[in-house]
Amino acid sequence: MKWLVYGARPLYTAEIAEIVARCGDTFVGAVDNMETEDQGASAESSWLSISDLANERINFDSVVLSAGPPGIRKILRDELRELNIDRYENLIDPTATVASSARISSGVSMNAHVVVGAEAALEEFVQINRSSSVGHHSRLSTFVTLGPGVTVASSVSLGAGVFVGAGATILPHVTIGANATVGAGAVVIEDVPAFAVVVGHPARIARTDTHGYLGYTV
Ligand SMILES: CC(C)(COP(=O)(O)OP(=O)(O)OC[C@H]1O[C@@H](n2cnc3c(N)ncnc32)[C@H](O)[C@@H]1OP(=O)(O)O)[C@@H](O)C(=O)NCCC(=O)NCCS
Repeated sequence: MKWLVYGARPLYTAEIAEIVARCGDTFVGAVDNMETEDQGASAESSWLSISDLANERINFDSVVLSAGPPGIRKILRDELRELNIDRYENLIDPTATVASSARISSGVSMNAHVVVGAEAALEEFVQINRSSSVGHHSRLSTFVTLGPGVTVASSVSLGAGVFVGAGATILPHVTIGANATVGAGAVVIEDVPAFAVVVGHPARIARTDTHGYLGYTV
């Protein structure tokens, strides 16, 4: 399988290249249409141009949308639709453990040591960072992003575009509305409305008036 990163950011692109290598697959490179000047130049040699992509001069099987914020990944997906590019396999690190009864849509990425429980459902473009777990019967809607070390307990529902910060815990049966943000380290014990930001232990609503994580709505 040949993987292309779209919407490159150097550091996360390097992480994706590592996952691809662990899978024994081929990392073709990254099409960079985002601001990268201030993020170091470590992956510069693999930058590819949008015109090469548009003119079918790049040989790849599947795209990974690299950016973390859910709403930015949606913008990237929409840009590729304009180019009639719609090739999304699931990129799952070989150290991840995914229950055979879990339902994984397409364009999902999982970094090292992720665990997904029985009957869990992950919709398109969900991104799960390293060492996070998703409990049985939990549902992660489209473009949900889990930072590193997140624990999503059982029967949790995360709406489209929810962003969960590093190390947060979501208790069983909690529902989090679309485009809400969970701060790093929060322990969420009750439902969260759409577009809210919650922080702390137990989590409290810090704001309700956002447009989604970093201002981008899914
Ligand atoms: C929750 C979050 C999105 C809020 O960001 P923000 O809108 O810029 O908010 P601010 O930094 O202005 O903080 C607002 C208030 O919440 C508090 N706060 C922010 N994040 C917090 C957190 N994770 N836990 C507890 N309190 C937090 C701040 O101390 C501040 O309190 P104050 O109003 O009493 O001074 C952000 O702090 C966060 O936790 N992001 C997660 C990042 C992450 O884990 N990324 C993983 C990728 S590797």
